[in-house]
Amino acid sequence: MANQINENIVWHDTTISKQDRQKKNNHKSCILWFTGLSGAGKSTLANAVEKKLYENHIHSYVLDGDNVRHGLNKGLGFSDEDRKENIRRIGEVAKLFIDAGVITCTAFISPFREDRDKVREIVEEGEFIEVYVKCSLETCEQRDPKGLYKKARAGEIPEFTGISSPYEEPNAPELIVETDKLSIEEAADQVLLYLQAKAII
Ligand code: ADX
Repeated sequence: MANQINENIVWHDTTISKQDRQKKNNHKSCILWFTGLSGAGKSTLANAVEKKLYENHIHSYVLDGDNVRHGLNKGLGFSDEDRKENIRRIGEVAKLFIDAGVITCTAFISPFREDRDKVREIVEEGEFIEVYVKCSLETCEQRDPKGLYKKARAGEIPEFTGISSPYEEPNAPELIVETDKLSIEEAADQVLLYLQAKAII
């Protein structure tokens, strides 16, 4: 049944292309894929980067794990399978944003290398910028902004990343931002400098 439906769906090229939109915007579009442990600073950094982009009249948007799980991905939990689906959907949404000419900052733990690599594969070369928001588990646990590590240690949250579920570090991220060594301002500047160096902005 599912196959029958797919056979009757034909890709329709749009009149206005990604290139048209990028030209009008005067900058390219891409995904800044922030990955790292809970509490590493992904959302904080993504928002700090977006603020700088916004101030420079650059079209941008933040997709954040906790927020997206309230709507689009409501109903998905934290099993390996659900996390995989979470990241797959976000990848597709971020790809649409690229098409719309927007620089998208995604802030998801995205603990599995394979899932992140799959997103890289569905966009063009250079459009997926993996930013490893690096911070030791120890520091994340000390920060514990949502009190979740405490609950996870008490056994109240199963499959908690870093405690009872794995986090696979990126092998070759475009950027590593060490949030336990840099200020937010410095970390955001590091990302902006990369975008400038690659002539994306
Ligand atoms: S991901 O693994 O699927 O990429 P995502 O980034 O969407 O995770 O959501 C992570 C956020 O959900 C965490 O910052 C935390 O606030 C919350 N959370 C709730 N349960 C868990 C869990 N078992 N593991 C990790 N994060 C959890």
